[in-house]
Amino acid sequence: MCGEKIVITLTMSSLLVGGKVLNRASRVLITGVAGFIGSHLAERVHSLGLEVVGLDDFSNGYLKNLSNLKKSKHFELVKGNILNVEDLSKSSKDADMVFHFAAQSSVPKSTENPTRDFEINVQGTLNVLKYARKADIGTVIFASSSTVYGDAALPTLEDHPLLPISNYGASKAAGEVYCSSYSALYGLKSASLRFYNIFGLRSRKGAMFDILQKLQKNDKKLEVLGTGAQTKDYLYIDDAIEAITLVAAKGKLSGEAYNVGSGENHSVKEIVEKLLGMLGLVRKTKTFYTGFSWHGDVQKTLADISKLKKLGFDRKVGFDRGLSAFVDWYKAEYGEVSTR
Ligand SMILES: NC(=O)c1ccc[n+]([C@@H]2O[C@H](COP(=O)([O-])OP(=O)(O)OC[C@H]3O[C@@H](n4cnc5c(N)ncnc54)[C@H](O)[C@@H]3O)[C@@H](O)[C@H]2O)c1
Repeated sequence: MCGEKIVITLTMSSLLVGGKVLNRASRVLITGVAGFIGSHLAERVHSLGLEVVGLDDFSNGYLKNLSNLKKSKHFELVKGNILNVEDLSKSSKDADMVFHFAAQSSVPKSTENPTRDFEINVQGTLNVLKYARKADIGTVIFASSSTVYGDAALPTLEDHPLLPISNYGASKAAGEVYCSSYSALYGLKSASLRFYNIFGLRSRKGAMFDILQKLQKNDKKLEVLGTGAQTKDYLYIDDAIEAITLVAAKGKLSGEAYNVGSGENHSVKEIVEKLLGMLGLVRKTKTFYTGFSWHGDVQKTLADISKLKKLGFDRKVGFDRGLSAFVDWYKAEYGEVSTR
């Protein structure tokens, strides 16, 4: 299954969003379309027969993420910035709904430059909401993050207090609050998706990607950030896309938040061992843990996904198959990891 996408059959009527039936003439705006999740979502929405307009400034996006779409006459790419009024005005014209996924998506970068993080994630989200209102777009689905909870009680329910321990988590929490105030004030249909660790094809950050990059440089010695005991909730990209479309179709869109995770967690140590096993490196590679990770990193996450399950969510791919698909994609994209 080299680089191949695991296909999930949608189980819901995805053409109904916020009580509005979207048909072939409907346009869906996806901000951050050239990123990891945005590009997969664009493919899914496009495959449902809708027009997709994508906005991305390519600060962390890749044109090759859009290679399956760029020739389609039902896909339009606007290279632009959510902080730029003209770009937003152009991309939101005639749109029926927005998936707002553009963001400064790195916790360490939000520590280094909180102002930039604020501008893109808070001001940028407010801009998207303002333009959605101006263009009479009824629905905005916002990509939030589990980092809004900080060091939370596990498993974490959506009504847990929001106590972020990173600037990134704070900016996502602010974005959520604006979505819900726009719902209350102006009747906008909105929902915030609190993504946990989403992984899979085209994911170019996070523990799994870093480990493969390091092994590619040196497969005899692997240095891993942290103690290895960090346990996080991981969800494979195709399962995440299923969850996103489910919330859009069946969720309560009155400024509600939904956890988007798997409801099971895995330690970094387990991930290292599984990757070494898949690559045939168990005997060859010596692993060292640094004992510290980056500032603002939540050490343990686990989503309570009962709210998502009530909408009919059921994972189809899961962790092990997802990890194996990710390794196959990585090798196809970046070359063999080890010569053994
Ligand atoms: N991947 C995860 O595990 C995860 C977890 C929690 C939350 N999220 C959130 O989900 C969304 C998608 O995440 P991702 O992993 O695909 O991130 P990503 O960084 O791959 O994608 C974000 C995209 O937004 C674009 N972008 C950034 N600033 C922009 C701007 N000012 N104007 C226009 N485009 C801009 C980037 O170029 C990039 O293509 C983000 O909002 C992220 O914060 C992701």
